[in-house]
Amino acid sequence: MRFVDACLGRPVDTTPLWVMRQAGRYLPEYRALRTQADFLGLCRTPELAAEATLQPMRRYALDASIIFSDILIPVQAMGVPVEFRPEPHLPAPVRTRNDVARLQTPDPWRDLGFVMDAIGRVRAALEPDRGLIGFVGAPFTLAAYLVEGGGSKDFMRLKGFMHRDPEGFDDLLARIGDAIAPFLAAQIDAGACAVQLFDTWAGQLPPEDFRRFALPAARSVIERVRRPGVPVIYFVNGAAPYLGDLRSSGADVLGIDFRVDLGHAIERLGPDVVVQGNLDPSVLLGPAEAIEARAAAIVARGRAARGHVFNLGHGIHKDTPPEAMTVLVEAVHRAGAR
Ligand code: CP3
Repeated sequence: MRFVDACLGRPVDTTPLWVMRQAGRYLPEYRALRTQADFLGLCRTPELAAEATLQPMRRYALDASIIFSDILIPVQAMGVPVEFRPEPHLPAPVRTRNDVARLQTPDPWRDLGFVMDAIGRVRAALEPDRGLIGFVGAPFTLAAYLVEGGGSKDFMRLKGFMHRDPEGFDDLLARIGDAIAPFLAAQIDAGACAVQLFDTWAGQLPPEDFRRFALPAARSVIERVRRPGVPVIYFVNGAAPYLGDLRSSGADVLGIDFRVDLGHAIERLGPDVVVQGNLDPSVLLGPAEAIEARAAAIVARGRAARGHVFNLGHGIHKDTPPEAMTVLVEAVHRAGAR
């Protein structure tokens, strides 16, 4: 499969691509599906989650899809309620050692079986040469939601906890890791051909705290899900200050956000690395010629690496015109042809 081959640094006929947040509100068929259930209802109903995953795969010649779910789904299974308004809201956040001690360790098949069920359905419906990616939120990013109770401007409650009680915070990260590592492994067993850890908020840390907290917590999960032939992708949003540290995550593929020049990232990481990224999602709001030119430039920079999987440098925006994705897919496959 072109996508897995590129992730493992094997030769490919052209640069593969998939898109973070591929499913969702930029597609009219998703908005129609959403009238049948709210977002959590879609996530928890395997038939509907599979349908949401497959919608963009029918429209576009993408090389891989990502299962329709959310990074906060396992948080609910840890005993912490989550609402989507549509931004995540956790009415009972985790602020003390006592709160941490009350967190539960879910059994993936018993408590989150609907995700594996959806993966099985998508795998059965998808052509064998197109990939299906499983995912989790990385421990630091899930800790951010657990402690803040939602999004935040400055993450002071999260960082306050981290600095006041570093051992308590280590315990929180460890418990999150114990919840998500078996869940990610179960997604592979159910049919995911690759898995991604989203570290959306790790970029809020100075490098020494990234190295002390976020990176080892992610590394520990990556070590536990490693299987021969199943690539692990680690995406850190805002990774520029830590490019020198990312290799020690142990991931096969490093996801690069849109703020970094991909050529610069490859120089810093070394030519034997495999990278994923990194078109600014806002480029898809502009004209076709600009999309083609930017995509071709990123594909050209990606050739300096051992492998390159094209992606956006963060999730697709809901105001993206659906036609822009058609332009992007064709441009990447054309520019990437060997
Ligand atoms: O990529 C995909 O298509 C698969 C599904 C997926 C969703 N969320 C669906 C979703 C994935 C991989 C995610 C990951 C996720 N969720 C992240 C990490 C990625 C990133 O953006 O850095 C984060 C931080 C979340 C938490 C989250 N969930 C937020 C902040 C929001 C609200 C933002 C928004 O766009 O409104 C959600 C809701 C959410 N997750 C929606 C979807 C399709 C919108 C739900 C709806 O109202 O239909």
